[in-house]
Amino acid sequence: MSESFSGDEYRELLRRYPTGVTVVSTSLNGRDYGATMNSFTTVSMNPPLVAVFIIKGSRTLDAIGKSRKFVVSLLSGNQEDAAVGFSRDGDEDKFLKFSRGVTSDGIAYLKDSIGRIECDLYMEEDIADHAMIIGRVTAGIIHNQNTSMVYYRRKFETTGK
Ligand SMILES: Cc1cc2nc3c(=O)[nH]c(=O)nc-3n(C[C@H](O)[C@H](O)[C@H](O)COP(=O)(O)O)c2cc1C
Repeated sequence: MSESFSGDEYRELLRRYPTGVTVVSTSLNGRDYGATMNSFTTVSMNPPLVAVFIIKGSRTLDAIGKSRKFVVSLLSGNQEDAAVGFSRDGDEDKFLKFSRGVTSDGIAYLKDSIGRIECDLYMEEDIADHAMIIGRVTAGIIHNQNTSMVYYRRKFETTGK
């Protein structure tokens, strides 16, 4: 760590890195789980793998470990209510307030998102206070042609056309 390293400056720097916004979800024993995640990234095309980094203690993380399946819904620019709703802590079923679709595997996803990536759990690895979740993509489906959501400096923005 350099002498000039400041945690506050580092956090402020990271806020200036724009990301997309997703809701990562799964279903287990008749219940749906989901959380807003911007740590999503693609890993490989051959085989098709994606990653998301989830904080330990997340209900969604716990459920994915058991169901071994999850869906990444990519949010559109007008889904701020979902981005905020799915980032809430608590035990309520977050899907109750939103339009929910279900994959052929029985996993819930956000119907109004721009598209979804269906995954089987490929690898789960503990990393500090997070878990790295790697998914083997089984389907990638476009729902609509809406603009995409961007998270930048703690605000939800939208891409151009
Ligand atoms: C824009 C945004 C991005 C987020 N990205 C992540 C992420 O990548 N990983 C993570 O663990 N939490 C992330 N969160 C926080 C989770 O959404 C939050 O902890 C949520 O309450 C977890 O819900 P759960 O316990 O029902 O799974 C993010 C929140 C926001 C608002």
